[in-house]
Amino acid sequence: MIGVTGLGYWGPNLARNFAELGALSHLCDLDPKLRETFAARYPSARVTDSFAELLAADDVRGIVIATPVPTHYALAKQALEAGKHVLVEKPPAMKAQEIDELVALAAERDLVLMPGHLLLYHPAVRKLKELIDAGELGDVLCVYGNRQNLGIVRTNENALWSLGVHDLSVILYLLDEEPDTAVAHGRDFLTEGVEDVVFCYLRFPSGKIAHMHLSWLDPHKMRKMTVVGREKMVVFDDMELERKVTVYEKAPWKRAESYGEWQTRSGDIYIPKIATDEPLKLECQEFLRLIDGEGDRRKVAEDGARVVRALDKLTESLHG
Ligand SMILES: NC(=O)c1ccc[n+]([C@@H]2O[C@H](COP(=O)([O-])OP(=O)(O)OC[C@H]3O[C@@H](n4cnc5c(N)ncnc54)[C@H](O)[C@@H]3O)[C@@H](O)[C@H]2O)c1
Repeated sequence: MIGVTGLGYWGPNLARNFAELGALSHLCDLDPKLRETFAARYPSARVTDSFAELLAADDVRGIVIATPVPTHYALAKQALEAGKHVLVEKPPAMKAQEIDELVALAAERDLVLMPGHLLLYHPAVRKLKELIDAGELGDVLCVYGNRQNLGIVRTNENALWSLGVHDLSVILYLLDEEPDTAVAHGRDFLTEGVEDVVFCYLRFPSGKIAHMHLSWLDPHKMRKMTVVGREKMVVFDDMELERKVTVYEKAPWKRAESYGEWQTRSGDIYIPKIATDEPLKLECQEFLRLIDGEGDRRKVAEDGARVVRALDKLTESLHG
């Protein structure tokens, strides 16, 4: 059974999904009002303000952590030390050293340490991965993400941490590599010390490159990921309802008799069908599967660590 900690904005979505999957046994939050609300909503769950109670409960096999980011590392560490499997919201830690410690602890005890990278369970992102891995796009050359809006102006977390974690997790998942260069530039136009506009550049050992534009100071509302391959190009646009993924048969090529000059080829543009499954439900099901010994729990933890390490590098560059 699963215990969910943190019932603020995001935790209730996790609680709902685990309840629907018949796996919710405990709920935990420091706020008495929230405990009252959730005790009424889930009468069969045990509701507490004590994280230690979840750690001590024999019937809790997995703990879900949806508390504020600075608390993730310490809570995840306690849970792993208590022998519990962990699903921790993104990012699972704030420093490379912290995540490496959590990954080692999970490996040592053979426990699941799964970061809540929701977009990795989005059927459209799965489609991009499928196209790349099947070689449909040819060699992938570059990937870039746009996550912009004149949106909620956050004052405690910059655009890199608030928005960038999503795109970074997708880029690393698609390319399955860790960047050797990670550079970020940005400015804190609205709140001193909190960057609202951030541009990131990543370069990978294979030579592939990636870029992220992250901003809540922008006229465009964009949630887009573009992958450029040598043979085809593909765009995932999460603002679209029916055309989430568009594949462009566009590519440069050289005609043998044209003395090596580049030409361009434009063929069909097609829209594959994308399932409408709720990504969070798929994420919760994956956590239960991993607990049951299916899938590769070590890879899931290590993939989460790659994201934190890259975030750490980007943060250093942004402030350096
Ligand atoms: N995957 C996504 O798309 C997505 C979306 C939103 C938020 N998130 C993540 O979810 C996490 C929580 O964000 P939020 O917006 O829900 O925050 P929030 O501030 O609304 O809620 C956090 C809750 O945690 C509780 N809490 C704090 N410390 C606790 C402790 N030690 N024990 C028990 N409860 C404690 C607080 O009382 C609060 O109710 C963050 O990591 C955030 O990045 C993910």
